[in-house]
Amino acid sequence: MTDVVRLSTPSRTQDGYTPAARVLHWTMAALIPVAFILGLTVDVPPRAYENAMVQAHMLVGLTLALLLVVRIVSRLSNGVPAPEPGSGRLAARLAGSTHLVLYLLLIILPLTGLFVTFYRGRPIELGLFTVFSPLETNRALSKSIRSFHKYFAFALIGLAVLHAGAAFWHHKALRDGTLRRMWPSR
Ligand code: HEM
Ligand code: HEM
Repeated sequence: MTDVVRLSTPSRTQDGYTPAARVLHWTMAALIPVAFILGLTVDVPPRAYENAMVQAHMLVGLTLALLLVVRIVSRLSNGVPAPEPGSGRLAARLAGSTHLVLYLLLIILPLTGLFVTFYRGRPIELGLFTVFSPLETNRALSKSIRSFHKYFAFALIGLAVLHAGAAFWHHKALRDGTLRRMWPSR
């Protein structure tokens, strides 16, 4: 029924997020668990593989940082769709604040990650070139920033799970178009 109404009454929200926003959202949603799991397991394989694990983790993390820059520029230039019709003011505010915190965590994580790396004196090997630490090595500081980096990573995953749960609830219980606005296919 909703689909019939939607087909017959085109609205601004029918189009949902731009294709760029959708591709970026789902690519990042797929890469975040990869970065998280690689980060948590850097110490698991034998010591000889530790640097390779950390480099892989940093590469995925830096890719996410790059995608985030593109995503923010794209959002600023294209805007976002109007709230789904029928969504309450409080729910819209809650969703908006959750999105803001998710974005903030996605900014904080690469920054803290870079400080963990540089205070540890670890270079970042990017294939064609290597970025050496511009900071004086301070292992103790690197270690404490690593703890914060870890808490932020858990906060990101926790909030993303709640956010995904809310999206499914909209889709299955409220049966509105919230998930469709972000779904890869129109
Ligand atoms: C969304 C992005 C990221 C997530 C979810 C993430 C997550 C994590 C997690 C969960 C850990 C394990 C912390 C611990 O057990 O103490 C970790 C460690 C680490 N992360 Fe990230 N991280 C991200 C981005 C980055 C970036 C961009 C860099 C650097 C360029 C980075 C550098 C590091 C380093 C150096 C460690 C410690 C590894 C070691 O030396 O043992 N991370 N990360
Ligand atoms: C780590 C994983 C995820 C992160 C970091 C994330 C982050 C975000 C952010 C920041 C937005 C706001 C977009 C904007 O307005 O610019 C958003 C929107 C959205 N996300 Fe996610 N997301 C993740 C996973 C998921 C999953 C798994 C689902 C579905 C099950 C989902 C469904 C949605 C939907 C439906 C919207 C649009 C909400 C609306 O129209 O108000 N997301 N996401």
